[in-house]
Amino acid sequence: MCGIVGFTGRENALPVLIKGLYSLEYRGYDSAGVAAFTKEGLRVVKTQGRIANLEEKIKEEGGLCCTCGIGHTRWATHGEPSDRNSHPHLGGKDGMGKVAVVHNGIIENYQDLRTRLEKHGYAFQSETDTETVAHLIDYLHTGKQEDLAQTVLAAVQRIRGSYALGVVSLDNPDEIVAARRDNPLVIGLGKEENMIASDITAIISRTDRYIILDDNEVAIVRPDGVTVMNEFGETLDKPVQTVTWDMSAAEKGGYEHFMIKEIMEQPKAVGDTVRPRIQNDSILFEECGLTDERLREIENIHIVACGSALHAGMVGKRVIESMCRVRCSAEVASEFRYENPIIGKKDLCIVVSQSGETADTLAAMRLAKQAGAFTVAIVNVVSSTIAREADGVLYTWAGPEIAVATTKAYSAQLAALYMISVRIARVRGHISIGDEKALCAELRRLPRLIEQTLACKEQMQRIATRYANRASVFFLGRGLDYAAALEASLKLKEISYVHSEAYAAGELKHGTISLIEKGTLVVALATQPALFEKTVSNIREVVSRGASVVLVTTDDFTGDESVCRHIVRLPKCLSEFSASLSIIPLQLLAYYVAVERSCDVDKPRNLAKSVTVE
Ligand code: M6R
Repeated sequence: MCGIVGFTGRENALPVLIKGLYSLEYRGYDSAGVAAFTKEGLRVVKTQGRIANLEEKIKEEGGLCCTCGIGHTRWATHGEPSDRNSHPHLGGKDGMGKVAVVHNGIIENYQDLRTRLEKHGYAFQSETDTETVAHLIDYLHTGKQEDLAQTVLAAVQRIRGSYALGVVSLDNPDEIVAARRDNPLVIGLGKEENMIASDITAIISRTDRYIILDDNEVAIVRPDGVTVMNEFGETLDKPVQTVTWDMSAAEKGGYEHFMIKEIMEQPKAVGDTVRPRIQNDSILFEECGLTDERLREIENIHIVACGSALHAGMVGKRVIESMCRVRCSAEVASEFRYENPIIGKKDLCIVVSQSGETADTLAAMRLAKQAGAFTVAIVNVVSSTIAREADGVLYTWAGPEIAVATTKAYSAQLAALYMISVRIARVRGHISIGDEKALCAELRRLPRLIEQTLACKEQMQRIATRYANRASVFFLGRGLDYAAALEASLKLKEISYVHSEAYAAGELKHGTISLIEKGTLVVALATQPALFEKTVSNIREVVSRGASVVLVTTDDFTGDESVCRHIVRLPKCLSEFSASLSIIPLQLLAYYVAVERSCDVDKPRNLAKSVTVE
């Protein structure tokens, strides 16, 4: 969470910092600030609220002209969103800020550091953990000959926790020092200018060349060059990478919100993920180390993830178990990492993450790796920490996803999990060559089926308009439909703030049905022919208690639909892959309900896209 950016060059840094912050706003947006070297010295402007508020404040304060500066967009962890808790934080005694710091992460021992620094005469202005870093750097820097980078190295050795840091000091007005541990940081390499940023979207308008800073490394960034050191202060020769996607992918392209743009991009996201992996009617996975030999030997599969990625994993678990007859669990990463899970050396751990930076997912993967399991990461962000640390990586080629609510990355994750399932089933002899060929054809057909499903857009908009004012919504389904219902429910609540719950359809009557009353909206999913009748009887149970039911089902639904108020029909597809279609109308429902309720669709309250803290 939190986005950090820094620029040092010959041009005015402020527009670059502001543009960078806008592209990082998805990482947190409760306050923003910049620190820059001006003729008058080191100036900090910061405010609670969005980046637009910061721009306003800078204008009110007479502008800010500088060629080197750092900026921050915050998702509060320590201290409420407020002007004084906003970053950058100044380090120095008596309000004489010689050092300014922006930070993404959590300093676990900040209380202890704070007490010690207070004893040395430092007065704290905020409740944040970050301010301790600013004062600590000042404390270690004052009166010593060491350069800033050496001081930052010394400071991070005293820090417990996670951080990506951008530090500037009055002593070096054209230099930014950056450091990272467990939080992402890239360094953009330009011509006579260089940048730091939490991710590539903040640098891509200036350069497509970048370096990834690894854990415990510190970088000195100046207009004419970048030096990266390891934790022992030794200079490293870091590989320079090139961005492979173009800027337009991170823009709205005429849509009102990123979310609807990304919903509409799902056929492409799924097609790009599937196509390169199918060759000669067979699935090829050598890229991620999933060799046939390894797949044959797997004893258990653990899918570990958070949020929507976990919901994709829950679909994957069901598909894998039914196709491959291998025991497979889908587990919440934040639980898995602390419950001493039973992991065997022949187990496969699949971690799923759009950002590739989710703290709990990363920790769970490290745990599985340590226990000897082979780890494969299904990740969207190229070169993210999870992608780099996994034994093998299977990229979802969904392109940059900006809306906080994931849609296209989720769909691409499902496709990746289906492919893993088909391959395991084939290698272990559960399906024939002919079956694999037919399944590959179904996978190739998915983008077209998703495209056809998107035609329900207007219908979902009408349904959303009608029910947008409901206080509570329930989603029901069995098996794969239950896994999809969980995702549908999360989508609705996270962006529209409507309370919603997802239930295994047969489970509702064990308590929750007491919440159903006249007018309650219930969305039922029924895409599995073998379970149609069962789900219909659960629908009857809620209808007879006054619920209005929207049924999402397939073209060949054979149950009694007369009990439902609205039917949303999906094109016919292989029932194992049905979650890829049933989620589409429900993403649209969530989107239009949020629009109808005038919510900030792309940046819902209290959230951030990438959850890099526990
Ligand atoms: O980047 P990740 O896929 O690891 O993120 C996991 C969750 O934080 C994420 O899916 C979250 O639940 C989304 N906001 C849901 O739309």
